[in-house]
Amino acid sequence: MSLLGLFKGSGATGFGYNSSAEEVTEGVDLSGKTYLLTGCSSGLGTETLRVLSLRGAHLLAAARNMEKAEQAIADIGANATPIACDLSDPASVQGAIDAVKATGRPLDGIICNAGVMAIASAQRFHGIEAQLFCNHIGHFILVSGLLGSLAPQGRVVMVSSGAHNMAPAGGIDFDDLAAEKRYSPWGRYGQSKLANLLFARELGRRFEGTKKTANALHPGVIHTNLGRHMSPATRAAMALVGPLFVKTIPQGAATTCYLAAHPDGAGYNGEYFADCNPAKSSPVGRDMTLATRLWEESQRIVAGLS
Ligand SMILES: NC(=O)c1ccc[n+]([C@@H]2O[C@H](COP(=O)([O-])OP(=O)(O)OC[C@H]3O[C@@H](n4cnc5c(N)ncnc54)[C@H](OP(=O)(O)O)[C@@H]3O)[C@@H](O)[C@H]2O)c1
Repeated sequence: MSLLGLFKGSGATGFGYNSSAEEVTEGVDLSGKTYLLTGCSSGLGTETLRVLSLRGAHLLAAARNMEKAEQAIADIGANATPIACDLSDPASVQGAIDAVKATGRPLDGIICNAGVMAIASAQRFHGIEAQLFCNHIGHFILVSGLLGSLAPQGRVVMVSSGAHNMAPAGGIDFDDLAAEKRYSPWGRYGQSKLANLLFARELGRRFEGTKKTANALHPGVIHTNLGRHMSPATRAAMALVGPLFVKTIPQGAATTCYLAAHPDGAGYNGEYFADCNPAKSSPVGRDMTLATRLWEESQRIVAGLS
């Protein structure tokens, strides 16, 4: 347990900072349920795959390519179908949509977990800054393409981050989506994670009057492969102070599993969670005008891809 964990109790849901993915799904029978999960090949995604499968769900386990998806499933012995989905490649995402539809399974949940963080210098996919494209636009295409496959009580879970607070002033830099005028690795990561949060807010609004839900979450700070783009100095500093506040991977996957699978998770829509409980986001993370604008701008970007 991290030092911070010693001071953390449970919240209103009965779970908290120290809860693990297995604990929040204890006694939950997911037999007959199907979840699509992105980023199953590493870190929090692999633990989410393992625990939802352990509880009886069938996973449509998406990774950057088929080999990675197959390997993740084999490593765990998960009850899952591998899906290739490179979020930076719209054709690959469309292939994933087609593959999911071809299974004929209604989706009880879509878990948008894959992500890339703090790329050192500006990169672009299809003219859009790489983190915004991979973390947000790729997921926007995927979820939009599968809304018709979502079960009547289906849940969309967006793995955002507390780093959404690092987004630029105003939230989304609509005037420079390609990051040609300015670039900061963390600012652009923060923007992409704010986009995940705003997407959940807007989708949740669109789900009002149905039993479908969309929520976003901060999983905590966890040692995974996410830090691959960080400088050696930042990685060394993290290793030094990590024991103070870093969660374990089972703890890191808990909020995702709570929102995706716990029966009480159905009672939340358009929310932001941290430590398995509702949490307060930044002011721009609650700005529904911005959320709607981002949705419309994302539609425009996607329309321009074809
Ligand atoms: N760890 C933390 O402290 C932390 C904190 C806040 C939020 N998060 C969020 O939690 C989520 C999971 O992160 P993690 O910590 O588990 O990191 P991770 O170990 O690096 O896993 C990220 C996953 O996303 C996949 N991915 C990256 N780019 C992709 C692309 N273009 N197409 C398809 N898949 C892609 C990776 O596949 P490859 O291995 O093939 O690249 C990997 O499977 C991310 O959304 C992250 O932003 C993590």
